[in-house]
Amino acid sequence: MPAHGLSATDAERLREFERLGHDRVAQTYHAFFSPVTALAIEPLLDAVLVTSGVRLLDVACGPGALTAAAANRGAQAVGVDLSPRMLELARQLHPGVDFHEAEVEHLPFADGSFDAVTCSFALGHLPYPELALAECVRVLSAGGWIALAWWDHPDRQRIQGVFREAIAELGAQPPPDVPQGHTILRFCETKEFLALLCGAGLAEVAIEERGTTYTIPDTETFWHGGLGSFVLTAAAIRAQDTAMQRAIRAAFERRIEPYRRDRGFVMPIGFKIGRGRKAQPGSTARPTT
Ligand SMILES: C[S@@+](CC[C@H](N)C(=O)[O-])C[C@H]1O[C@@H](n2cnc3c(N)ncnc32)[C@H](O)[C@@H]1O
Repeated sequence: MPAHGLSATDAERLREFERLGHDRVAQTYHAFFSPVTALAIEPLLDAVLVTSGVRLLDVACGPGALTAAAANRGAQAVGVDLSPRMLELARQLHPGVDFHEAEVEHLPFADGSFDAVTCSFALGHLPYPELALAECVRVLSAGGWIALAWWDHPDRQRIQGVFREAIAELGAQPPPDVPQGHTILRFCETKEFLALLCGAGLAEVAIEERGTTYTIPDTETFWHGGLGSFVLTAAAIRAQDTAMQRAIRAAFERRIEPYRRDRGFVMPIGFKIGRGRKAQPGSTARPTT
């Protein structure tokens, strides 16, 4: 199965970039960004109907908060990720929860091993999203649910949006070690997200949009938190010379100013939950959104 817009070499480079990048940021990601991705935990668990005894696989689990929340509901929860440092952190934070090192595209589980699969904010990082989803569906039992969270467009998902816009405003070019041809924004488009889910042969496909806010106390926390969480953005900024980095930071500070309130920067958060059900033999795939 070909990677979308990527050569095979760049697809493998992207996977390695993701592994090294998330190894590097595991602790800082958890400190700054886990509370933001946590906003999708309950909607995802509800979307796949997690109750006691459900066998749940959480792919690209990062520091493991969703896997642990499923275990707290009484599920037999397993988390996988390709970053060893993320998994080390997940095991420290959630002792007793089962975590394994694995790529979403090659899951070390037999067909039909799980009643439910979740994927929280990893879709745009994957070099082979179609292959990854097919692999998730393979390990799902017939009639089981899968749900994936992904961000809305940067104009509605403002935490990453302000960084992207500051970089674009200055025309800063990405460093050569960042794989080209990949667009992390592809699944912000509901049409693309739906096509992915339907293309995997899922039934009862639906996409739900969610909007909320998240407050970041001050500029330093925001800037360093972003650099310590967003691997592509951080690579793009760190590759610049000092003058350009200063200019990007100035543009960033100007762009966060409209969100300043008494308690800090109140940032709009937009994300989507896409879900579908592994078809029973003889059923048809039809979107309901
Ligand atoms: C933005 S983080 C999301 C982590 C967590 N699910 C959350 O919601 O906070 C993306 C995660 O995907 C993992 N990842 C990226 N590509 C992967 C792949 N091909 N297979 C498995 N994990 C992958 C990264 O290591 C990272 O932990």
